[in-house]
Amino acid sequence: LVLILDYGSQYTHLITRRVRQLGVLSLCVSGTAPLAALESLRPRAIVLSGGPHSVHAEGAPTFPEGFLDFADGAGAHVLGVCYGMQLLVQSLGGAVEPGERQEYGKMEVEGTAPSSALYGEAETGKRQTVWMSHGDEVVRLPEGFEVVARSVEGAVAAIENREKRFYGLQYHPEVVTHSPQGMETLRRFLFDVCGIKADWKMQDVLDEEIKTIQSMVGPDEDVICALSGGVDSTVVATLVHKAIGDRLHCVFVDNGLLRYKERERVMSTFESDLHLPVTCVDASEQFLSMLKGIEDPEQKRKIIGREFIAVFDDFAHKLEQKVGKRPEYLVQGTLYPDVIESCPPPGSGRTHSHTIKSHHNVGGLPKDMKLKLIEPLKLLFKDEVRKLGSILNVPDSFLKRHPFPGPGLAVRVLGDVTQGNALDTLRQVDDIFVQAIKDAGLYDKIWQAFAVFLPVQTVGVQGDQRTHSNAVVLRAITSEDGMTADWYYFDREFLVDVVNKICNNVRGINRVCQDITSKPPATVEWE
Ligand code: XMP
Repeated sequence: LVLILDYGSQYTHLITRRVRQLGVLSLCVSGTAPLAALESLRPRAIVLSGGPHSVHAEGAPTFPEGFLDFADGAGAHVLGVCYGMQLLVQSLGGAVEPGERQEYGKMEVEGTAPSSALYGEAETGKRQTVWMSHGDEVVRLPEGFEVVARSVEGAVAAIENREKRFYGLQYHPEVVTHSPQGMETLRRFLFDVCGIKADWKMQDVLDEEIKTIQSMVGPDEDVICALSGGVDSTVVATLVHKAIGDRLHCVFVDNGLLRYKERERVMSTFESDLHLPVTCVDASEQFLSMLKGIEDPEQKRKIIGREFIAVFDDFAHKLEQKVGKRPEYLVQGTLYPDVIESCPPPGSGRTHSHTIKSHHNVGGLPKDMKLKLIEPLKLLFKDEVRKLGSILNVPDSFLKRHPFPGPGLAVRVLGDVTQGNALDTLRQVDDIFVQAIKDAGLYDKIWQAFAVFLPVQTVGVQGDQRTHSNAVVLRAITSEDGMTADWYYFDREFLVDVVNKICNNVRGINRVCQDITSKPPATVEWE
């Protein structure tokens, strides 16, 4: 196991992911977590992440008390990256000072040792491009350390003390697009320096999780799960079903805010391809009547969350009557980023509410149901969930689906969702747009593509007739994680074709706009 101690860098998750991509399980823990939390994990290697602070700043995060003795006692190798390296140097008696030059962005570094643990043999004078992002620099090494690379400007770029098993990189090897040899350096560190084996496989994760669930859920206990049709809930339900069969009871709620024919499409895959025991609850009238006349986006979200809980509660209650006892467990598709982000290191600038997107938890379930949780994906990143899903034979059409927000089309019909024919109109426009993207082979290149209905009427002319109809907006973005995004640049021909299809086929629309705002300053959704 490789442990990543998080000091608040925006790249910490990348380190965790890179190690896993090399086939080694890595877990990320707050850099200031108590030592006891690290001890039980028995790491072979520990990576100290970067962070936004100076080691001299008041309140700058530091290792847990006794960390260096613990690492030594455990025989673990410690690699400090950027802030992590400076922290290591300072704690071991070296010196870190504000740099004469601030080094940000791409930089050349040059090997300064004939042989090193991190780079191998004959490295003197060899150059590589790396990604730097720091203001302070190491000006005096602790005893026993050697500089094995410097930036071409002369700053210390890589250090090691092989005897004590301490290593440091001033740059970010995990940012592999800008540090092209970064993956090789991490590979050397894990396999050659630490002697770790690449033995973390998705099939093993699956087997392990199935065993855990089987031993956790007794033979006469029932489990419930809310299925949204998204990647996470579909994969998690399929996995739990494999473990306990039809003692799993899923509910799919049609809230009247789904996309074109979504309920039929999703239900048929659940039933015929995945053989999941799903109850489909048509609650569209209930949701839409509560949303009637509501224009405020936050209020819309709250109502949807509340109604969802009511439907789920009712489902659990009916199940209890049917099987004669309360369900004991609830399955949730919690992912690793949610787990890490709910315990950020102090002073990292990340806050609980900022990172777990509280407004996104529309699927939040009743707290007073007192159900025990089953969260088999809670150590996985999204791409790993997709791999797991593919071992479980979840069709690609599910695994590669664009994300869809919990409140559904309610955040895409601006204002009152029940206005006129807005929802149906939006469904048709959205379907034409997304289908055109699929036909053009662009679906997998785009993170999310959808249409937005504007409560705005403009003048047009269609078939010699003057019209006064609604406008829609097309939005397509590229993104890594939805936190930042760029708009997707379509060919003129593609757009001409889509706009023609929309105006010729969808009644009530005479104007189509494209949203070309990135995030920030805009958000992905319009509400
Ligand atoms: P924003 O609009 O916040 O969207 O830039 C970022 C990502 O989150 C999705 N999103 C939501 N997902 N419930 C969800 O489950 C929500 O209330 C919600 N709002 C936005 C959005 O589709 C994008 O992928």
